[in-house]
Formats: sequence, structure tokens, C-alpha cells
Amino acid sequence: MVNYIEASSAPSKNTGAIRLYDAQAFEGMRKACQLTARCLDALADIVKPGLVTDDIDRFVFDFGMDHGAQPATLNYRGYTKSTCTSINHVVCHGIPNDKPLREGDIVNIDVTFVLDGWHGDSSRMYPVGTVKRAAERLLEVTYEALMRGISAVRPGARTGAIGESIQTFAEAERCSVVRDFCGHGVGRLFHDSPNILHYGRANEGPELREGMIFTIEPMINLGRPHVKVLADGWTAVTRDRSLSAQYEHTVGVTSDGCEIFTLSPGGLDRPGLPSFAG
Ligand code: MF3
Ligand code: CO
Ligand code: CO
Repeated sequence: MVNYIEASSAPSKNTGAIRLYDAQAFEGMRKACQLTARCLDALADIVKPGLVTDDIDRFVFDFGMDHGAQPATLNYRGYTKSTCTSINHVVCHGIPNDKPLREGDIVNIDVTFVLDGWHGDSSRMYPVGTVKRAAERLLEVTYEALMRGISAVRPGARTGAIGESIQTFAEAERCSVVRDFCGHGVGRLFHDSPNILHYGRANEGPELREGMIFTIEPMINLGRPHVKVLADGWTAVTRDRSLSAQYEHTVGVTSDGCEIFTLSPGGLDRPGLPSFAG
């Protein structure tokens, strides 16, 4: 049994009910998400071999400050950075450090800005210099998986339709879907109901309704789906050390589909890959 709640009435904690947002909220989310997208666009120019991930973190922090926004991850549940940088076999929640990126790496940069109380959450993969064909293919498969998940979003469908679309495509491409992390409701809160699984069946999960806002953020591996979290309590890696990739958009459900709030204004949704699909 699922409950729905007017978003304006209880903005402060995740009660398990799914919030329905109005047009004014959609406008707030559009602004926060476009700021996040512009930051991710700007990063496409600076990600290169030799760049230290702490410099990415500093760039994100400064970009937020310059535009009146806070990085949501800063001091979130003990996390002390403004972004996550997840390299190669790191699945998600990689912590920026003093190590340089190397030619051939693939790195996910995940940014969430809070602007006027609204959370804009998005991540993209960045190839560092020239990468191997297998890595490039994983990025293509993962972005396409995200877009197939987004295509399943419409009122009346269930959250499981998103997961089924992603899983069916990724597994047909001989890749695997990480089960241990999922997308989430987002808006006034960073992580809210519902959970958006990136696997499953179309008849599972709560029904989507106009006004819901959530992320879709599939993590896709070249090898097996299993992950472990390192001793730092955050960094999630593939158990078999195979390459992992992730892209994330924040979307709002409309009367006939959805609006992608975090689309790149510069056509850089897939940095380093052609900006058209396929
Ligand atoms: N931005 C991540 C997400 O997509 C969450 C990062 S939480 C952190 O939900 F603490 F690890 F930064
Ligand atoms: Co997210
Ligand atoms: Co994110």
C-alpha cells in the first residue's frame, strides 16, 4: 500500500510516502538541476590526464558557491566532499583525493547542488584521454540504459517498468546491473521515497503519478554485478574488479511522460562520446 502526500505539507523527512510536486516546485527543480548540469558541462573541459580528483572537488565547491548553491554531499552522513569521483572499477561514492587521473581511466563525477532548497542530482562518465574500446562501449551501453529507463516513465506505469527497461537492455549487451544502489525520490530532500530499482519487472513497485520527482542512476558493470564497500565506509567497488559505469538524471513525471531536469545545456550529456544517441 502506497501513500501520496502533497509536497508542500511535509518537506522535512522521508516518511515513506511519495511526494507529488506542483508547477512551482518543478520550476525550482529546473533551476537547481540546470545549475548541476552546467557544472558537469564545465567539467568536460578540465578532465584530463594528470588532474587530481581533489581539484575536481574544489571546482565543484567553488562553482556552487559562485552560483548561490550548496553541494548536498558536504557533511552528508559524515561525507566530507562536494562531489563523488568514481574511477574504473569504483561503482559509486568514490572519495576525491590527491591522486591524478591517468590516460585511459573512466571517471564518474556525481554532483548534487541545493539551490533555494531544491536538490539537482546528476552524474556523467568522463573518458580521460583515449580509452579502450571496451570502456567506451560500457559508457555507450550505460547511457543508453539510462535513457531506456527514462523512456518508461509515464503516469500509470510502475517503477518496475524503469528497472525492467534498464535490465533487459544492459543484459542483452552482456553487461550486468548493480543491485546494491538505486535511484531515489528527490526534491526538498536529497534522498526520499520512492526507491527506483534499476532491475526488475514492469508490474512491480508503486505506480507513477504526475508530479513525482526522482533520479534514475543505473550502475552497469562489464563483469558480475556484485559490489563491496571499502574500509573508508563509502567507496563501492566491483568484487571482480571489472569496469563499472553510471549516468544519472533527475526527472519529473508529467501528464504524458517526464521532463529531464538535468539535461546538458551544452549537448554534453555523454562527454567524450558523440552527442547523438547510438
Ligand atoms: N549523489 C549520490 C546519489 O546519486 C549520493 C552521494 S551521497 C555521498 O544519490 F555522501 F556519497 F556523497
Ligand atoms: Co542520486
Ligand atoms: Co548523484
